[in-house]
Amino acid sequence: MRIRRSLIDLDDLTPRELAYVFERTEQFEAAPPGALLDGFGCVNMFFEESTRTFTSFNLAELRLGAAVVNLAPRDLSLATKGETLEDTALTLGALGVSIIVVRHHEPGFPQRVALAFDGHVVNAGDGVHAHPTQALLDIYTLLEEFGELKGRSVGIVGDVLHSRVAHSTIRGLQRLGAAVVLIGPECFLPHDYADEGITIERDFDGVLPQLDAIVLLRIQRERFVEMPITDEEYVSGYRLDERRLAQLRSEAIVMHPGPYNRGMELDDSVLEFAGWRYLKQVHHGVGIRMAVLDFLVNGRR
Ligand code: CP
Repeated sequence: MRIRRSLIDLDDLTPRELAYVFERTEQFEAAPPGALLDGFGCVNMFFEESTRTFTSFNLAELRLGAAVVNLAPRDLSLATKGETLEDTALTLGALGVSIIVVRHHEPGFPQRVALAFDGHVVNAGDGVHAHPTQALLDIYTLLEEFGELKGRSVGIVGDVLHSRVAHSTIRGLQRLGAAVVLIGPECFLPHDYADEGITIERDFDGVLPQLDAIVLLRIQRERFVEMPITDEEYVSGYRLDERRLAQLRSEAIVMHPGPYNRGMELDDSVLEFAGWRYLKQVHHGVGIRMAVLDFLVNGRR
């Protein structure tokens, strides 16, 4: 049995481990697993706002029986008293903390915590780099829908450049054999995203009938200074609306990692669409995070 220490991005999981996390998610959603993290101290350090990820990690930890401490930036001596991140990690370890879940605007921050901390670290989103547990729950939602992803076409639409979710999800979809179609204007989707199994499309309307699933992305305005195209240009080219929904295959689904901005990447008709899967994604967030935490701490059973 191999015990993984940390989850910084999806590459940290082998294909078997990925399958195991999904299997455990299904089990944990079907029946409460009991106190698999009884006696383990767990600190959630969120340096950025979060509704979905923060709440679902808390629920997952509590359902597994962990002792949970939430540290906001203002609670940390790191922020105002000159303590280094490395010394903070050592200190939490000495206090008996076994798991740190961390979100930070700086890419690579969770990796730095993992190098300094004698325990398990889970990346809850680091800048534009990665958001592995969101990617896992998105892929789990797709697998639940389609059984397997080989031969399926998944379109990811919008601000790919600044989306850590997209960066992790693309890697996961590539590994599972899906055809990934990235869709967006060049300012949000540079040419060099093209790769094996990944194509780039600028014409959203043209590609709509080919897609089995669409993952819409929010424009990550907090990650750049000036909007590189006008809102009107973006909406005209890339907003999913009633007219575009009508061009989709009858069995196609639409997803969004959240938070979504009504009027920009989607309009209200998407929220009424039979294939809209956002709430399923959110629901799976707790099971996925329980499965990840159990796997990191207890390994495969
Ligand atoms: N999807 C996601 O990471 O949402 P939050 O920022 O609300 O956690």
